[in-house]
Amino acid sequence: MSKPKVFVTRLIPEKGLELIRDSCDMDLWQAELPPSREELLQHVRGVDGLLCLLTEQIDGEVMDEAGPQLKVISNHAVGFDNIDVMAATTRKIPVGNTPEVLTDATADFAFALMMAVTRRIPEGERYIHAGKWKTWGPLTLLGGELTGATLGLIGFGRIGKAMARRAVGFEMRVIYYDPNETKPNPDLKASPVDFETLLEESDYVSLHAPLTPDTHHLIDSEALSKMKSNAVLVNTSRGPVVDPEALYEALKEKRIFGAGLDVTEPEPLPLDSPLLTLDNIVITPHIASASKETRARMAWMAARNLIAGVKGEPLPNCVNPQVYK
Ligand code: GLV
Repeated sequence: MSKPKVFVTRLIPEKGLELIRDSCDMDLWQAELPPSREELLQHVRGVDGLLCLLTEQIDGEVMDEAGPQLKVISNHAVGFDNIDVMAATTRKIPVGNTPEVLTDATADFAFALMMAVTRRIPEGERYIHAGKWKTWGPLTLLGGELTGATLGLIGFGRIGKAMARRAVGFEMRVIYYDPNETKPNPDLKASPVDFETLLEESDYVSLHAPLTPDTHHLIDSEALSKMKSNAVLVNTSRGPVVDPEALYEALKEKRIFGAGLDVTEPEPLPLDSPLLTLDNIVITPHIASASKETRARMAWMAARNLIAGVKGEPLPNCVNPQVYK
């Protein structure tokens, strides 16, 4: 019997590829850059399964171009705003994602950004490379502290809660805003507040919400104007949750202390982005989940979703279980 045909849109860790090779006839996109729209449409034609990354926009056109035999779309990410899930559900195509396995790596990274910004670590490096380190200075590169500070989490799902767990060790006060989580969480010593209170009271605001029409530019100039002057904004969710022009203005005028972004709008961030001219920002190239262990687990999980889907079995992690009703 011939194996199901699948298209995998990039080289992923071997732990996932070996599973796919065993049970599928795999077309693997090996270039460093993602396939163009035309290349994507061409390669999905006739496949039973698609394993894609957040760099691919998977809409009804892609699904129709693949054909009615398409049985699964497996995203190698926990976020799935790159996929038109409604279009997939209408076509009875299950969509898989990779929750849980990247929670700790992402929360670690958000903390790393918080500390890098508030203790000005990249600025310190640039200071040395620029030959400015002449002596130990009592006033050199002063920043903020975590101990005793208030951490405001926007989004209190898996990663938000992992942030709260870490914050206990730093003796921080934790508040959160999440329309789906309105009860206090005594185990994590965290309390729900409304959006405005969170902005007004937090020394660190960390974003852990998915990108939806409701969260698009949630952090705009009005939201930034409510934040404390010592506040640090951290985004490890999706770039468009923050309005980049509003953030640039707030940082340039030092209305907040700084920002750490692992995600930007757009991605990749163009080299002429005004954000790159600022000292009080740390920007990384969407690598919060990029530990070797986590990326291997993501690949394995995405492969399992793909294989279950092409076999017509329920996906281990399905974002639109309505397709099975
Ligand atoms: C990465 O951003 C993910 O959603 O997994």
